[in-house]
Amino acid sequence: MGIADEDVVRVREATDFVAIAGEHIALKRVGTRFVGLCPFHAEKSGSFSVNAELGLYYCFGCQAKGDAITFVREVRHLDFVEAVEFLAAKAGIELRYDDAAGGKDRQRRNVLIEAMEKAVDWYHDRLLKSEDGGPARNYLRQRGYDGDLVRSFKLGWAPDDWDALSKALKLPDDVLRDTGLGFVNRRQRQQDSFRARVMFPIFDVSGKPVAFGGRIMQGADGPKYKNSPETPIYSKRRTLYGLNWAKTDVVDAGEVIVCEGYTDVIGFFQAAVPRAVATCGTALADEHFNMLKNFARRVVLAYDADAAGQAAAERFYEWERRFDIDVHVLALPAGTDPADLARRDPEALRTAVKDARPFLAFRLDRVLDGADLRTPEGRARAAESAADVIREHPNDLVRDQYVMQVADRCRIDADRLRSMLAGKGRVPMPAAASPNTRKTPAGPEVEALRLLVHRRDDVKGRLAEILFMDDLDLAAYRALVASPTVAEAIETADPEAAALLQRLAVEEADSEPDDVITRLVQRAGARALAELDAEARQSPERALELSPLVGWLKLTVEQSGDPEAGVAAGERLVAWLTERQEDA
Ligand code: UTP
Ligand code: MN
Repeated sequence: MGIADEDVVRVREATDFVAIAGEHIALKRVGTRFVGLCPFHAEKSGSFSVNAELGLYYCFGCQAKGDAITFVREVRHLDFVEAVEFLAAKAGIELRYDDAAGGKDRQRRNVLIEAMEKAVDWYHDRLLKSEDGGPARNYLRQRGYDGDLVRSFKLGWAPDDWDALSKALKLPDDVLRDTGLGFVNRRQRQQDSFRARVMFPIFDVSGKPVAFGGRIMQGADGPKYKNSPETPIYSKRRTLYGLNWAKTDVVDAGEVIVCEGYTDVIGFFQAAVPRAVATCGTALADEHFNMLKNFARRVVLAYDADAAGQAAAERFYEWERRFDIDVHVLALPAGTDPADLARRDPEALRTAVKDARPFLAFRLDRVLDGADLRTPEGRARAAESAADVIREHPNDLVRDQYVMQVADRCRIDADRLRSMLAGKGRVPMPAAASPNTRKTPAGPEVEALRLLVHRRDDVKGRLAEILFMDDLDLAAYRALVASPTVAEAIETADPEAAALLQRLAVEEADSEPDDVITRLVQRAGARALAELDAEARQSPERALELSPLVGWLKLTVEQSGDPEAGVAAGERLVAWLTERQEDA
């Protein structure tokens, strides 16, 4: 069932966001906004900002943003409908449900989840009790899985049979198909997808089963794992095996361990480190990080050391920047995975977690540990390889820290190493924006947008599209002008512009409109002057033709800074610029 749209609006309007957020964090009033410690990442300074009037929040530390509904969804791990229900109960609003498309999707989801729950129980029961489950029980016991563990992870056994599950569950054909549990074969009979496999049920964050990974037993044919296909309830890119069990400890520890396999996750739990997750037969993707960043700031990769090497480096740095997380790597002895180590030496696995190092430090260690630092030649070679690794990091402050360390270890002058770093081809990437900026560091465009958000009437008539060069600023400007309220602008803008507006909404607009507009207009005027100059340089004739216009433009730009004539000059300039744009 879906909640009627009007009711969602009513709940939004009736909700006091400061009160809702106040149940989880202490908020302090600062000027026109409220700030507090962000519940979505670990921090010591208050980066979480709230615009009480609009009921919006934005965190300058982790970029979490949204309204009361997204807030309770995230802190309470609820879905949309549950979150609205929660808020409605607080506001004393009785909800009406409709059967619109959204409602149908939800109903369908419930039907599929229910079938999955039955399958989880059925496979689990087979593993625990059935005679044909004997070899599977032995196999698991020999891997160190006792009954408690099998029950905690709801492991199962799919018998060596064509249709044992189908026969037992008697699901409608479409449910069998849409859960990925089975299909209708050519003889028009229901057939199971999994056969003779140890079953690892995969749950969503809230603990609902959405898929299976089925492991083959030794000696049998076929791929080691068979995984559920993508279904209406299962997207690999949005699912992390183990997160439902790990989330509490992940939040407490401020850290999540990402490993490769189902059995590695279980290994970490066995070793009393219950905060590991794994992707399910797919590579780590943006969506995974987008989920994880809501739970912890630190992501520790427990991958095979080589797999976490070169190829992935740029993506990790990109993720660090985009999601404001730190990627660390846990060093494992060569040729072992966490599952092995958990059995052989759980203490060593715990130590490895404690000693996880930043991604770049980890890679440098590997380069330097493998080098011969006893000879001058060896040290020079090591310095070169190290420079290649350091060069990939996008932040020059970070790069420089490592330059000094490497220079020290390779006994080479730090400046030499710096020039080695600069020397080779690559264009250095721009430095990461520092997190925790209280205010979006930006030019007059963003200042003007901030004023437009908070003091619309003071600036609206004086701004124009031509003043915004950057696509994102322009999109935000257009959305604001086209909508009667900021809230509506945020809803109609594209996601990036909406994010910008949301952030601006929780910032204070303390600059002077006249100053901001003057700077903005002068910039636009200067851009036009530069263009005219370039045109004039083409030929003496053209220069002559343009000279009165250039003269007028220079004068007007200058006048626009005048305390008295400024406003009128600015308006002339904007009018001319807009007209010129339209003619072009
Ligand atoms: P592993 O081969 O390391 O498996 O693959 P594992 O889970 O650690 O299992 P054990 O310990 O050998 O029994 C890592 C992950 O890659 C995916 C699965 O998600 C697996 O957990 N995988 C692997 C597949 O999807 N299909 C395969 O055939 C193999
Ligand atoms: Mn493995």
